Amino acid sequence: MTRKFDTDQLVRTENFIGGRWVPASSGARFAVVDPADGACIAEIADSAAADARAATDAAAAALPAWRETLPKERAAILRRWHALIVEHEAQLAALISREQGKPLAEGRGEVAYGAAYVAWFAEEATRIDGDLLAQQQRGKRMSAVKEPIGVVAAITPWNFPLAMIARKIAPALAAGCTVVGKPAEDTPLTASALVLLAHEAGVPAGVLNLITASRDRGIEAVADWLHDSRVRKITFTGSTAVGKYLARESAGTLKKVSLELGGNAPFIVFDDADLEAAVTGLMASKFRNGGQTCVSPNRVYVQAGTYERFADLLAQRVAALKVGPASQPDAQIGPMINARAVDKIARHVDDAVTRGARVLTGGKRLPGLGPNFFAPTVLAQANAGMLLCAEETFGPVAPLFRFEDEQEVIDAANATPYGLASYFYTNDIKRIERVSRALEAGIVGINEGAISSEAAPFGGIKESGYGREGSKYGLDDYLSIKYLCQGNLA
Ligand code: SIN
Repeated sequence: MTRKFDTDQLVRTENFIGGRWVPASSGARFAVVDPADGACIAEIADSAAADARAATDAAAAALPAWRETLPKERAAILRRWHALIVEHEAQLAALISREQGKPLAEGRGEVAYGAAYVAWFAEEATRIDGDLLAQQQRGKRMSAVKEPIGVVAAITPWNFPLAMIARKIAPALAAGCTVVGKPAEDTPLTASALVLLAHEAGVPAGVLNLITASRDRGIEAVADWLHDSRVRKITFTGSTAVGKYLARESAGTLKKVSLELGGNAPFIVFDDADLEAAVTGLMASKFRNGGQTCVSPNRVYVQAGTYERFADLLAQRVAALKVGPASQPDAQIGPMINARAVDKIARHVDDAVTRGARVLTGGKRLPGLGPNFFAPTVLAQANAGMLLCAEETFGPVAPLFRFEDEQEVIDAANATPYGLASYFYTNDIKRIERVSRALEAGIVGINEGAISSEAAPFGGIKESGYGREGSKYGLDDYLSIKYLCQGNLA
């Protein structure tokens, strides 16, 4: 019999290690704040290396028994966890919105999205098949079996506080791995709530451990995992700079690493596109989570013949977006996560305007709503010399670049070290074939802005990282292949 929690009861302020809620060993705490108004939501455990070590001890101790469970036993636990997440959709959504700031409807959407990964990997757990290899010699049998990689460290971001950790923990548990996790310091409460529900669903003590930490102590805690040879895998979603650090530091113990890093997604609209559909697709992908999404279009390329009409249509739609705190029922864009994020957005817009961009709508902070609000913005006359072309803005800003021909826009779209998502709109079937092959990205949306799905392989190329999350490929990152060679059979 599982319990039902209200939102406040889902709030946990300690680490979860070895099946128990325990304070940080130093007793330190830090404040989690509402990004809309800076109000303190909770004071929670501020962990460091000793806590990370204790979590690894618990995960390493739990591994031998967990890896021996039957896939269908792990699947049953994951299915119960999924059911509990769905049952607590409203409470979890409220928690997400409170600590992350996204409008409540988006919070609910995120719960459903994260839960879908748990359901997906419950199914995938039962399909971890190996191969009996074609016989090469009489009396000899060769096979390949898949084994859990071991203890996994999951380090997760603030933009999707539930979905990102769910899509790392679920495949790890499905594969038979045990987990140590650390959510971003801005949004740790949702992750703790999720772990609480996993425990209620029957995940055994030590199999799933979570520590929370402020920015500086968190670096120290993660460093302990990077250098501990018992941790066999690091999975991370976040910035490219941090991803490179994790890859470098974990090389000492040669861990398997999956990195879902920054993007600088191009969104291309050709003259022959369905304009209405392109604007709708851009609204969905650009303004989801206030633009704080790694697959959010960062550069919008519009062909010359349609540029002015597209810009007008888009500016009208963006100007109509309602900005407000998550507590405002009709809000469509919430606050940005923190002051650093708003400062970056403002810096990008100011730089663009200085270099010749024209503000069609927005372009400014909204201090009347709170320090972290920024108006949804459309900029015309963007060019490659602007900061926002080189860096991911991670906010509600759509800069419009004009282009003349297909090769020119493919070259521009690919002129970035990143390669996560890309999008293009056209009604020409031959162009669809050419452009989808030419774009250097792990994900291509073709006449579609909503590309995320638990059934699809999510991940990038180039400096957007490696590894895939979700889909039938998503378990591979948590498994290693063992070759068995049996002789003297004849
Ligand atoms: C992300 O922003 O990191 C993930 C977005 C998604 O899963 O759609």
